[in-house]
Amino acid sequence: MSVLEIVTYPADILKRGARPVDRIDSELNRFIDDMGETMYARQGVGLASVQVNDDRRVIVYDISEEREKKQFKTIINPELVELRGERVSEKEGCLSVPGLRADIKRAEWVRVEGLDREGQPVVIEADGLEAVVLQHEIDHLDGVLILDRISRLKKELYKRKVLKKIRQCPKP
Ligand code: NI
Repeated sequence: MSVLEIVTYPADILKRGARPVDRIDSELNRFIDDMGETMYARQGVGLASVQVNDDRRVIVYDISEEREKKQFKTIINPELVELRGERVSEKEGCLSVPGLRADIKRAEWVRVEGLDREGQPVVIEADGLEAVVLQHEIDHLDGVLILDRISRLKKELYKRKVLKKIRQCPKP
């Protein structure tokens, strides 16, 4: 298994989002293992394929206390089919938007349908942190970042900060 490189804003693929998986094979399963490995290596609670520069519609996450067991959940072609209630997810962060923590309005409860690694249908009903993570990762697959869920002013400030940093980087 290998730890993959995380792509960060303003990478194009983060805006483009992902396309549905039409083939679940050993290659895809190896990629999913790498996604899990990458998520643990970067101390993330969830990861979407586009964050490692791949546009297959896959998310992984682990909100358990026993991360050392590395028993993460995988959903292929996840879709949010039902949302209920409202909550503010406090100081939500994202590996692809380094340096930003923001309060984001999310649904309190969600129902997600998709496929597992064997291609069998899965249905997940979740609230609390799990519901937030599912919404965050599925947003990624739809090309949406936490930057798109904060005020335009805050987004502009972040954009300026990032662009300044890119300009300061020495070019190879
Ligand atoms: Ni993220």
